Amino acid sequence: MSTRHFLNLADAGGDGVAAILADAIDRKRARDGQPKGRVDADAPLADHVLAMVFEKNSTRTRVSFDIAMRQLGGGAVILDSGTTQLGRGETIADTARVLSRMADAIMLRTDDHAKIEELAHYATVPVINGLTDLSHPCQIMADLLTVIEHGKALPGLEVAWLGDGNNVLNSIVEAAGLMKFNVRIGVPEGYESDAGFIALAEAGGARISLHRDAAEAVAGADVVVTDTWISMGQAHAEAKLAAMAPYQVNDALMVRAKADALFLHCLPAHRNEEVTDAVIDGPRSVVWDEAENRIHAQKSVLRWVFGQI
Ligand code: CP
Ligand code: NVA
Repeated sequence: MSTRHFLNLADAGGDGVAAILADAIDRKRARDGQPKGRVDADAPLADHVLAMVFEKNSTRTRVSFDIAMRQLGGGAVILDSGTTQLGRGETIADTARVLSRMADAIMLRTDDHAKIEELAHYATVPVINGLTDLSHPCQIMADLLTVIEHGKALPGLEVAWLGDGNNVLNSIVEAAGLMKFNVRIGVPEGYESDAGFIALAEAGGARISLHRDAAEAVAGADVVVTDTWISMGQAHAEAKLAAMAPYQVNDALMVRAKADALFLHCLPAHRNEEVTDAVIDGPRSVVWDEAENRIHAQKSVLRWVFGQI
């Protein structure tokens, strides 16, 4: 088997994503109620080490991959670019070569997606995308797991996205093509998501629609999703915040969705900007399950890159 990377969901494909999700559901159920640091009975990644490199801040990705590796019986090493030689100009290629000798897999969070592609090119161990400016596939694995756990089948699902057309939306759109659901994108003009992911999703059979009217985007949705209006690395522009204002997810918008619609947010949330307290703390919100599911989904992504799934 050639080295498996997880840079985007397409690396696993629809069958791979489905298999990862099924594995995550089984494994989560099997360890229900146990202490969070306990190693799973089968310890499938015993003696394996994941090196994580962060060129951007993180809470969930950092903690969830660390705990995921512990539960799988392995370990993790966390590097911040500011304290590594990468931050002083050592090349990505040389970093890939060295980390491939020392660790069994590498996770990178960075800005330019081309950097993670370069890392994967030179690495001889699996590389996992922990977020780039282009995409956030691990987040969407946790999102899909959360939606399924809350009783919603993916095929035919109507997902509404409100706000900025960013990395998280790109991976949702990619997932739609692979898992056959539809995305209603409510974003202001000039803040659309990546056209390449939309074309691929449509070719895969997903219906992707663009709406300037937020209420129209949410109408009849099974799942409502938003994210910060200003992503890491972006300027805090007043003009952008003003353009985003009509897309805030609040109670008036949520009533347009189906009565049992779920609310998702990858977090961190900017409360009372992209989402009100009432919605994120309300009965439709599953954001804490979503955050916990980063651990469970990524355990199965890790098993997948090592060829165990
Ligand atoms: N959702 C997410 O990736 O969170 P962090 O930035 O805290 O890792
Ligand atoms: N779109 C956000 C996601 C954070 C997890 C960002 O890139 O900052």
